Amino acid sequence: MTSGGDAPGMNAAIRSVVRTCAYYNIECVGIYRGYQGMIEGDFKPMDARSVKGIINKGGTMLKSARSTEFRTKEGRQKAYDSLKEENVDGLVVVGGDGSFTGALIFNQEFGFPVMGIPGTIDNDIYGTTATLGYDTALNTVVDVIDKIRDTASSHNRLFFIEVMGRDAGHIALNTGVGAGAEEILIPEEDLGLERLTESLRRSKRSGKSSSIVVVAEGDKIGKSVFELKDYVDEHMHDYEVRVSVLGHMQRGGSPSCFDRVLASRMGVKAVESLLDGKTNFMVGLVNDKMNLTPLDQAIKGQSKINTELLRVSDIMTT
Ligand code: F6P
Repeated sequence: MTSGGDAPGMNAAIRSVVRTCAYYNIECVGIYRGYQGMIEGDFKPMDARSVKGIINKGGTMLKSARSTEFRTKEGRQKAYDSLKEENVDGLVVVGGDGSFTGALIFNQEFGFPVMGIPGTIDNDIYGTTATLGYDTALNTVVDVIDKIRDTASSHNRLFFIEVMGRDAGHIALNTGVGAGAEEILIPEEDLGLERLTESLRRSKRSGKSSSIVVVAEGDKIGKSVFELKDYVDEHMHDYEVRVSVLGHMQRGGSPSCFDRVLASRMGVKAVESLLDGKTNFMVGLVNDKMNLTPLDQAIKGQSKINTELLRVSDIMTT
């Protein structure tokens, strides 16, 4: 099943899990709408042909939902009963932090074997260098910033561009460097408003006529892109300022080749690990190899931002 926010590559992961099951002659059922569908017994038997033509599709054919009922003991009991009725003996969950927390509690209560595949554009999961959808989202965002830069430079404007990432700055930091942003604001570091305006003044003095500032939605300064615009409007008169909030378009679209390959590898590893009798792990990519991290570590551990990128960004904006 897929759970939590959708991410490009989830379909490729579904395909991989289903085809790995077919390869090992294991019956496979897809669970629709995440934990809510599990509670309601919304299952569909799947074979190798059920997943044809989806490797290149964004979103998730199994759909996704956030279930409040699964947060209750009664809800989880219903989910367990549905799985037993369907003769399911192992679960692969493609999702993020919240989905893994649910899987872990479910295992602790019912001893049900669970395996996680990290699927979120935020890349904020410990135990893998990349989550499904992250690479695609980076490419989508860089493409859009390039387009916005055309307007920024034609009109000598300063753009604040908000990208996703409530708790993690991976998208902002990488797309900021990749698209040549003048400043990058992330949840992990407080740049401070004065440093921001000072940096914008410096870039103006150095001869730049336009500027791009990439802002993660949960940036530590704690101001929305609209408040940042107001602040700059008030304190600097050298720029005409505009704002662009990229929103959910970052989660959509056809997965990149990297995400398709990663999803295919993770699906195989997840099914083979369950077959090996393993449970409560998340499949991850570490040093280009498939790796298993205990679910409780994946949830609690912090995926750290790459601080080298902050330095690279500083040097690039000289
Ligand atoms: O976790 C993925 C994510 O896209 C975050 O970056 C974003 O803050 C959040 O989901 C948005 O969630 P929703 O689609 O429920 O509004």
